[in-house]
Amino acid sequence: MDALAPDVAKEAAGIRAAEMVEDGMVIGLGTGSTVLFAMQQISRKVRDGLDITGVPTSFQAAMRARELGIPLTTLDDYPVLDLAIDGADQVDPGFRVIKGRGAAQLREKCVAAAAGRFIIVSDPGKLVTMLDAAVPLEVLPFAVTPVQSVLKGLGGEPVLREGQKKDGPVITDNGNMVIDCRFGCIHQPEQLELILTTIPGVLSCGIFCGFTEKTTVIVGDVPGARILSR
Ligand code: A5P
Repeated sequence: MDALAPDVAKEAAGIRAAEMVEDGMVIGLGTGSTVLFAMQQISRKVRDGLDITGVPTSFQAAMRARELGIPLTTLDDYPVLDLAIDGADQVDPGFRVIKGRGAAQLREKCVAAAAGRFIIVSDPGKLVTMLDAAVPLEVLPFAVTPVQSVLKGLGGEPVLREGQKKDGPVITDNGNMVIDCRFGCIHQPEQLELILTTIPGVLSCGIFCGFTEKTTVIVGDVPGARILSR
């Protein structure tokens, strides 16, 4: 059978994830193209009377939610969420993930930490046997150069992320910069996440290993979507 086009797979995953959203829930709304399909489906359910509120993980998520008529709140008002739905760049068999292609991983990690369940929506192309993508790091602009030196000392290949349709570095929703750092195959992601997040000036690391126990991975597939178990 031919592989599904990524967008078809993403939509199938998003629609399945929206089925997990129940009346009265407060949910985290992730960033990116896959979770948008979930938000579109949630929006249809809201129009049909579903009563939910979302905490957006980025300006993009907030803009899309407003366009779609999904009511929004904050972690200040709801520090504990029922669940969060989000995309990923890579997912390994233990449900450890790399996130941050869209530079939203700092708020995404805060929202995932606040959620009782973490629902990852994915297309099959993101499932890997071992994480090996470049790791996005949100970095305080003041510390970009020393952080790059430390990353090189760890054997990484740091690259300051540049804007598209904007000259110069990407500036995150929080006013910081992003370094993408390649380490090759990541044999011990928990250890690398800990090391990276303790570098002074690093505000967030795109490796997410702390949520595996509460993670459900939904992969768009034929037919519909399948729910992975670890
Ligand atoms: C945002 O910074 C990212 O963490 C995204 O959630 C992740 O890159 C997945 O994005 P797509 O669903 O667009 O592939």
